Amino acid sequence: MNTVHTIEALRNAVQQQKKNGKKIVFVPTMGNLHEGHIALVTQGLNQGDFIITSIFVNPLQFGANEDLDAYPKTLKEDQEKLSAAGNHLVFAPSASEIYPKGMDDQSKVIVPNITDFHCGESRPGHFTGVSTVVTMLFNMVQPDIAIFGEKDFQQLAVIRKMVKDLFMPIKIIGVPTVRENDGLAKSSRNGYLSSEERAIAPKFRQILNETAQKIRTGQHDFTALTEEAQAQLSINQFKNDYFNIADSETLKPANEHTQSIIILAAAFLGTTRLIDNITI
Ligand code: PAF
Repeated sequence: MNTVHTIEALRNAVQQQKKNGKKIVFVPTMGNLHEGHIALVTQGLNQGDFIITSIFVNPLQFGANEDLDAYPKTLKEDQEKLSAAGNHLVFAPSASEIYPKGMDDQSKVIVPNITDFHCGESRPGHFTGVSTVVTMLFNMVQPDIAIFGEKDFQQLAVIRKMVKDLFMPIKIIGVPTVRENDGLAKSSRNGYLSSEERAIAPKFRQILNETAQKIRTGQHDFTALTEEAQAQLSINQFKNDYFNIADSETLKPANEHTQSIIILAAAFLGTTRLIDNITI
């Protein structure tokens, strides 16, 4: 498995594979890989011939008070995991390779409406950073297929809309969230949790599950259910960011007529932000 750090080297490698008629699968990541990322590569191997994983901590999608500087960088371990998983090429560019003129002068891709709530509301500018870098990476890699995790459900919806609206000839595939044995969604940010916080963290998933169960058994007072869940989060030392019961198609607030409901939630445990979702 090779690693390239420049767009030129990436393009040369992709061209070679395309010449040989290979179907290119792209897995964009920010590194510090765990089983959730490896599941994306494994799915990629089922879908195409040549798997390219990018590792780039994209500064454009981090807010001023977020964890850009602390974000773990573990390229060597990531390369070992990717090689063992059967990945073919790693693209690990520097920030100056991606943003040679800095970020202020960078053209941006804005995906409207669907980014107005949930993570888009609590992290202003985040999704513009994501859609911009994903577009740039798509233009560099020119994949047939790109694979994203369902843990970042809104991100996946934003990418799907962007690809559809901008007629990008790329098939987008979502892969179910990989969890620890106690239900906590795997995340690079779990590494920030102290051992005390790690012991509490699965309660986040349990509260989502309990609310989902209440909806399944016919409770449809979503305001009351949200308040109950927020109270439970608070009792368990979480600081609520958002807890929203939404339509899984539009991501707008659900009502009693909504066909497919999703609960989307984010909460802080200490300084660590956890996100998760559950479809009903
Ligand atoms: O989900 C992520 O890791 C990032 O948001 C992504 C898609 C790699 C873009 O930087």
